[in-house]
Amino acid sequence: MGHVLGLARLIRWCAVPLGFVAAMPAAVGSPPPQVAICAACHAPDGNSVVPDNPKLAGLDADYLERQLKHFKSGDRKSPIMSGMVAALSAEDMRNLAEYFASQTAKPGVGFEASELAKGKLIFDEGLVAAAVPACSGCHGSDGVGDGKYPRLAGQHASYVEKQLLAFKSGERANDLKGAMSAVAKRLSEADIRAAAHYVASMKEE
Ligand code: HEC
Ligand code: HEC
Repeated sequence: MGHVLGLARLIRWCAVPLGFVAAMPAAVGSPPPQVAICAACHAPDGNSVVPDNPKLAGLDADYLERQLKHFKSGDRKSPIMSGMVAALSAEDMRNLAEYFASQTAKPGVGFEASELAKGKLIFDEGLVAAAVPACSGCHGSDGVGDGKYPRLAGQHASYVEKQLLAFKSGERANDLKGAMSAVAKRLSEADIRAAAHYVASMKEE
């Protein structure tokens, strides 16, 4: 009984400083206060362990900021994320993007070995017959990306697969000049699966 009461007191004690922190501007060098919310799904360091929730660690800050703005404007649709960004200011979004971009990405897990050879071919060379350009041409030979092209290396395969299918169907259409949609429309569902498992397996040299 005393134990339970002690726990209740501890929870109450924690809740006060958390609410207080959320109302304060982020101090230089410390994580933005909203990271506590994002962490529930994306993990505190952005290396989400839930396949449906993308890893954010090590993605470019400009890319992450653009996605947050697009969730807010509705240019990218996600019932979960639109709720998350509703109360964020432009400055909050920049701070959160910079925080997650500065975290170190951990290697991917859960990819299927049987998909890797085909996926690597698509990534490195594209598919000539289907006029699919090599993914590496935009996302970089190591899949690390840059401001325009997001990091793919180590991302969850099921998330990558879902995004490629969304670009293919037109459900996700927030990419610059339709560059990614044009590629995805030429990929078959089997190609998408192979490419998704391969990028999940990619590690920096
Ligand atoms: C309840 C779970 C949940 C919470 C909490 C959450 N997210 Fe997300 N987030 C998701 C899911 C699921 C997606 C994938 C949406 C899709 O399928 O397009 C996502 C996508 C994203 C993306 C796009 C990533 C990419 O590679 O394009 C960013 C950026 C992001 N979230 C940032 C945040 C930030 C910042 C917070 C905190 C303010 C946050 N999320 C809170 C579940 C969550
Ligand atoms: C012509 C350049 C180009 C090529 C080639 C290309 N991409 Fe992309 N890709 C982009 C751009 C630009 C975006 C970012 C779209 C945005 O800002 O919303 C993107 C986004 C993505 C995303 C979404 C990432 C996330 O975190 O949500 C995935 C997955 C992806 N590309 C996979 C691939 C794969 C696999 C290939 C090869 C079959 C490929 N791309 C080839 C330009 C390209």
